[in-house]
Amino acid sequence: MTDDRQRMTSKRGGRHEPPRLPLAAEASAPAKLILCGEHAVVYNRPAIALPLADVRARVRVSPRSWRGVHFSAPNLRRRWTLAERPDDTLSMLANETLHSLNASPTNGMLVTIRSKIPIASGMGSGAAVATALVRALAAASQQHLTNEHISALVYENERRLHGTPSGIDNTVVAFERPIWFVRQAVEQQGEGETKSGDESSSLQPPASSAHALIEPLSFAAPFTLVVADTGVRSATRMPVGEVRRRWLAEPARYEALFDEVRDVVVRVRGALAEGDIVALGSLLDRNHELLHTIGVSSPELDRLVHAAKAAGALGAKLSGAGWGGVMFALVTPETQERVIEALREAGASSIRVNTVHATIP
Ligand code: PMV
Repeated sequence: MTDDRQRMTSKRGGRHEPPRLPLAAEASAPAKLILCGEHAVVYNRPAIALPLADVRARVRVSPRSWRGVHFSAPNLRRRWTLAERPDDTLSMLANETLHSLNASPTNGMLVTIRSKIPIASGMGSGAAVATALVRALAAASQQHLTNEHISALVYENERRLHGTPSGIDNTVVAFERPIWFVRQAVEQQGEGETKSGDESSSLQPPASSAHALIEPLSFAAPFTLVVADTGVRSATRMPVGEVRRRWLAEPARYEALFDEVRDVVVRVRGALAEGDIVALGSLLDRNHELLHTIGVSSPELDRLVHAAKAAGALGAKLSGAGWGGVMFALVTPETQERVIEALREAGASSIRVNTVHATIP
């Protein structure tokens, strides 16, 4: 890969010399947005997710004369070394990645992590930082890892962070394209994992990762989402754990709610394929209502959703784990500015506009 996602540099007076590991390298990965189906996706219902290419995490690996791997995350005001903090999740991921690459760096390295993705906000910050780290270490070792392999490494990292991730975040971030994602129950594994068609079958993760049916999605018409942050930080594992407790206490009720989410997500796929943006809006509204009933909305999220709707958005919902983080509104060119203004007045801490382009199936 030679694009912005993964770059290697080896400049020593312009002469070609054999590389000393690690080489200087930089890689990036995008934020993500779950369009619909979050939470129910943990219980094997489908969900749809999109990468947000303009909002990225970046990791730079720089060779150093010292020994060992040093990490610096200036945004988080954190510095640590792999030797001092082997149990840190990023230390563990770096170790696993180097092991997977069969790379034993001869020199020390500084791993600098910078991210424009707000943490604990439903935008996949953890998966993006992890993906950029894996890519940067691969580039620094002059090796190529497939997206499947990267996704599997990041899934393990997500497991350490959240306990029971569906696998949707690592998949959409590593492949950086819109996806239809269905985690497979154990008895379903094997079925549906090899969908016909080159493009989709190349999106399958290896067996070590979450077993899932993953299909690339295409859109018949472009649509624009205004993404607004409540400014409330909420770690994914908290609402995910609460939903699990509720599901264990009232399985029939929650299974029925997840089935309703599934029906919405299936209809969203149809609306996207037909370019029916008005239908998409109503389905997003319905998904928000269901997430509210499931118990993962919050007063701040509801306030932004209602403000966007009152200002003319076609649809609006929370995105990601909930209890804080972001929501988005589906807008038209006519309503976009009004919705942005309404979200600002309702207390959004930051607002981004993301247009999803039509694709040829
Ligand atoms: O809040 P995020 O960006 O980590 O999204 C979590 C999505 C959930 O469906 C709630 C959990 C999962 O693992 O799929």
